[in-house]
Amino acid sequence: MEKRPDMIRRHSAGAIFMHWFNAGCWIALLATGLGLIDNPELQPLGMWWVRTLHALGLDGVLLLQVHATLGLVWASVYAVFSLVRLKSETWPFLREVGTFSPQSDLTWVLRKTLTLTVGEERLRAKGLATELPAQGFYNAGQKLFAVPAVLGSAGLVATGLIALFSRAWPGGADVVQWALAIHFLCAALVAVGLVVHVYMATIAPGEGPAFRSMFTGFVPEDFARHHNPLWHERVAAGRDETLAKRDKRSI
Ligand code: HEM
Repeated sequence: MEKRPDMIRRHSAGAIFMHWFNAGCWIALLATGLGLIDNPELQPLGMWWVRTLHALGLDGVLLLQVHATLGLVWASVYAVFSLVRLKSETWPFLREVGTFSPQSDLTWVLRKTLTLTVGEERLRAKGLATELPAQGFYNAGQKLFAVPAVLGSAGLVATGLIALFSRAWPGGADVVQWALAIHFLCAALVAVGLVVHVYMATIAPGEGPAFRSMFTGFVPEDFARHHNPLWHERVAAGRDETLAKRDKRSI
């Protein structure tokens, strides 16, 4: 896609592909993983989901094979991408989402939550401040989701591999039980964050340009100036190294 003069690049083609590959794998892994829980007391969706998958012929060993194969493909593609793009994508992403400014980030999260729930006008009428602290490439809410998403995904891969390969070891059955309990907790942690992530990306007002950038790669410069002023300053000053590198590639 041609870069228009008032648009600036936000995501590379590789990052966009990986995001939607990740989203598709996550939905399929959640759907099949939930189908593997056949204890009614632990089943968050209810047993109707397990019965639906069974009716579709997905049960027992076959469902486990589908889930595990999908998990291995997801983790392998991610591992390759993360290593190949270590300097240009992986490291800048981890540095960006792992850098917090507690006071400003907490203020952003509280004011944004109040604005979305109570409403800006009512807050102003009560004399409460509504302006949000200046944000970098990701805002505080996105960082608060990204960190558990990365750690939870790493935990899922590690515990998934242990559950898959350690059954035959001495004492393996106990190890598998522990691994699966942690696997379940990691999935729950990310799934809860995902509900807020998808709401913020698709329904929350004012986020349309960021959503479209996950397809086109670009955001309007005005949007970046307003939503991500600290990042926009870096771009304007030519100090956004990753972006400069990404810009050499066409989308
Ligand atoms: C299926 C529906 C999903 C939608 C509509 C969606 C939408 C988006 C959008 C629009 C962005 C870009 C935000 C920006 O440029 O400022 C984004 C970023 C991101 N997405 Fe998703 N996403 C989805 C699923 C997922 C899943 C399943 C995961 C991981 C488990 C995920 C993890 C991330 C992360 C880590 C980022 C970067 C940080 C952030 O914006 O929170 N997304 N997503």
